Amino acid sequence: MPTLTFAVLAGDYIGPEVMEEALRVLSHVAGQENLTLAPTRADVGGAGIDNHGKALPDSTLRTCEAGDAILFGSVGGPKWEKLPPAEQPERAALLPLRKHFTLFANIRPGLLYPELTDASPLKASRIPNGIDIVCIRELTGGLYFGKPKETTTLPDGDVQAVDTMVYKRSEIERITATAITAARSRKNRLCSVDKANVLETSVLWRRTVAEYVARHAPDIALTHMYVDNAAMQLARDPNQFDVFVTENMFGDILSDEMAVICGSLGMLSSASLGARKNSLGLPFGLYEPAGGTAPDIAGKGVANPCAQILSAALMLRYSFGMEKSAARIEAAVRKAVTGGTRTGDIAFGGKAVGTRAMADAVIANL
Ligand code: IPM
Ligand code: MG
Repeated sequence: MPTLTFAVLAGDYIGPEVMEEALRVLSHVAGQENLTLAPTRADVGGAGIDNHGKALPDSTLRTCEAGDAILFGSVGGPKWEKLPPAEQPERAALLPLRKHFTLFANIRPGLLYPELTDASPLKASRIPNGIDIVCIRELTGGLYFGKPKETTTLPDGDVQAVDTMVYKRSEIERITATAITAARSRKNRLCSVDKANVLETSVLWRRTVAEYVARHAPDIALTHMYVDNAAMQLARDPNQFDVFVTENMFGDILSDEMAVICGSLGMLSSASLGARKNSLGLPFGLYEPAGGTAPDIAGKGVANPCAQILSAALMLRYSFGMEKSAARIEAAVRKAVTGGTRTGDIAFGGKAVGTRAMADAVIANL
């Protein structure tokens, strides 16, 4: 009987609520498919600060090390906002986790079911068939991690802060390889997004992506776009993209834009993968919903669990090689939502169900 060993880092506010439901869905699948689940829970984010004095406690890191994947909830919120920026849950938990496991490839599906086009701020006439695109974001380089990164007082008393945007060719090549794999699983189209008219890193980015695709993936139709134009094109006609790949900061911004045009953050999952293989020889990964901790609705049992459930599906796909089970969960979510079972964020004033009932509907479709 195959055993699925993974760390469960639920985090703060709605994190534990939606995580509970994702675990219930996984247990159901495990029962049906004769799998053994071996999740280990550990504190992260605000929960880490409160219980261990650190957003990413050493014991949590060890739990992650011991598993084949990390199922992550979300971290942060008003309770810890007064801490210095570098100690806040988002920066002190998520970024070190990404760096520690070299999770350089963040895959964010931008999916809006045609039945939910009303949830998008875009006119329905622009997206008659919903949205179905994928953002591949480089996650361990660029402005987020480049050195120097510091604030100094200058001799004249003025204060100066600096972040450094830095990329090596090897970093660009490995994210391009991920993007090629994603493009090959879809329509063989890839758009690389950069700011090569201004930034040195983008000049190297564009040249490297072009050379790498020409050498290793001549079957891929590659295009390039400046990031400002890409932001505009996403709002104009999102489906002109199929898969797009971009550096860390641009990907952070564009993926939020993608999330909003896809209707609800409560529906979007993500996978962060790296070079590291797990005990099964598959990519070790961190799987998390795109939305945050939603402190305003925490504790009310109304949060949408779908993004967390879909993130669990991605974990089955990438880190456990269980494509069929992943696709089954995705289909069950789709059927539940399009069949009319919806949490408040996607109910458009219609009848809204709670977190648990939403997951029950998914389970009923499995
Ligand atoms: C994301 C988030 C994080 C990021 C924050 C919480 C550090 O916005 O995953 O997109 O900027 O990468
Ligand atoms: Mg972001």
